[in-house]
Amino acid sequence: MLATVREIQFPQHGDERGKLIALESLTELVPFEVKRVYYIFDTTPGTVRGKHAHKVLKQVLICVSGACTIECEMPDGTKTEHRLDWPDHGLLIEGLVWHNMKEFSKDAVLLVLASEHYDEVDYIRDYDEFRRMCEGHSSDV
Ligand code: TYD
Repeated sequence: MLATVREIQFPQHGDERGKLIALESLTELVPFEVKRVYYIFDTTPGTVRGKHAHKVLKQVLICVSGACTIECEMPDGTKTEHRLDWPDHGLLIEGLVWHNMKEFSKDAVLLVLASEHYDEVDYIRDYDEFRRMCEGHSSDV
């Protein structure tokens, strides 16, 4: 299974009234069919969320208000941090990527487009199990 983390810049439809961003399933911006949308908000200061990887889920994360940081660890151990602080900026996470969400501003609303319905079976919540599963996997950052 390929593991990918990619920052995506969304094109804006802006005019004197303000800005608008449109995202559609199965495009370069969202390369999967969106089956679920969830959002994280009113986060307790200092909280680190996530702390898991997924077996098959693909997600695009967008901080539509405020800011937060997504910390990713790839199967080869490479770690990256991505500050999401504007609605025209997204982060695609596919495959076996351990990820934490942290440093939420008080007004942060983290919107997530997901390729599958919620299924706890798809979660890897044990870090040691994640590392074991990573053996033999390839990744793109
Ligand atoms: P959790 O996995 O702890 O969120 P995160 O990893 O983003 O910090 O989920 C918190 C609760 O919400 C948990 O009881 C599962 C539930 N949940 C759903 O019911 N549907 C969903 O799509 C998600 C993401 C979570």
